[in-house]
Amino acid sequence: MKKVGILYICTGKYSLFWKNFFEQTEKLFLPKSEKHYFLFTDNKELLSLSHERVHPYEQELEPWPFPTLKRFEYFLRAKNELLQCDYLYFMNANLLIQKKVREWEFLPRKNEKLVVALHPGFYNKSNDEFPYDRNPECSACIPFGSGERYVMGALNGGRAKDFVLLMEALSASINADLQKNVIALWHDESALNRYIFDYTEKYRVLSPSYLYPEGWKLPFRNKMMLLDKSKLGGHDFLRNIEE
Ligand code: GAL
Repeated sequence: MKKVGILYICTGKYSLFWKNFFEQTEKLFLPKSEKHYFLFTDNKELLSLSHERVHPYEQELEPWPFPTLKRFEYFLRAKNELLQCDYLYFMNANLLIQKKVREWEFLPRKNEKLVVALHPGFYNKSNDEFPYDRNPECSACIPFGSGERYVMGALNGGRAKDFVLLMEALSASINADLQKNVIALWHDESALNRYIFDYTEKYRVLSPSYLYPEGWKLPFRNKMMLLDKSKLGGHDFLRNIEE
């Protein structure tokens, strides 16, 4: 049985997503694999979970946008354990599996190393409309007229070794930008798009079926849904941003 590591961050109020996420993922996701959950949280209850496939790591709540920007740095704390897996996937806290997701449709195929998913807002747009970072000072910059696709930061993964390489590269480039006081337009998502833009190995591109925003009408099956944060108090509430 292949071992799949799921990387999940829920600091602060995001911990309210965990229970449902875990139950649905156990029930519907990659039924022929051994799933391990690497859970980065400051929630005391979650930190004391005792389950042989749930591995909690204490992660303090940082002010927005650091929890998204520094995600790869957080994960690298578990690098040795992550490398024991065959595959690794990062999933947003508000992603909720709706239908059975099987290995053949989701894991990298022969020769593919990474797996990314098209952003549900841009799968049918041209590259000049993609919200790439356009600041030449930023390591994530992609100039107008370039780029074939816009992928979402909410779901990405691949073969463990290749995904660890991605984490190392992105954590280094994001930190180098921070040193210069530069933050990419869409944080780690911009950096991911630049990494994919430069990537010379094969990778799998999933449709927005796996990132189906709650309440949207798209010509895709809703297999994995991005829960609408506004129904849960809104972005600012979840990110601990005061009025
Ligand atoms: C939004 C999404 C952001 C970012 C943005 C890009 O819908 O919530 O995380 O992906 O699109 O334009």
